[in-house]
Amino acid sequence: MQISFTLNGRPTTVEVEPATLVAELLREQLNLTGTHIGCDTSQCGACVVHLNGLPVKSCTLLAPALDGATLLTIEGLQGAPGSNRLHPMQEAFRENHGLQCGFCTPGMVMTAVALAKDKPSLTEAEVRHGLEGNICRCTGYQNIVLSVMSGVAAMHAAAKGE
Ligand code: FES
Ligand code: FES
Repeated sequence: MQISFTLNGRPTTVEVEPATLVAELLREQLNLTGTHIGCDTSQCGACVVHLNGLPVKSCTLLAPALDGATLLTIEGLQGAPGSNRLHPMQEAFRENHGLQCGFCTPGMVMTAVALAKDKPSLTEAEVRHGLEGNICRCTGYQNIVLSVMSGVAAMHAAAKGE
């Protein structure tokens, strides 16, 4: 079947088998390999992307659900348009050493960006709770939590033009 959706700001039409998972579609058909697959039980969150602005585990979503939707992946995150800069959350992960192997990072960052939409600042407990669906094997989470708190603050400062 054919599906059409907006992928990282661009109109996209692809031919897919109806049973294709969005994570597979991204990685194998569209060559957007930032979205990772770390499990087969919907636990790890390495595959998180935004569907119509909400974080979803793309290993748990079938491609036909994309028809008419808007999808954002880690490759579509960016800083101020035209600036060639990192998104504030990406910058915060770099600054706070919120990654090691980097495998969980795309999903962590996408989840973190979604968390920032709800509140201008988050407590450590709120960040830890918000990241419950994302597993990391390397960092022990502490620097990820610091990254997210800092990234949320930076996103809101940027939105206010500070
Ligand atoms: S690959 Fe999607 S939750 Fe693990
Ligand atoms: S940085 Fe390696 S799994 Fe998180």
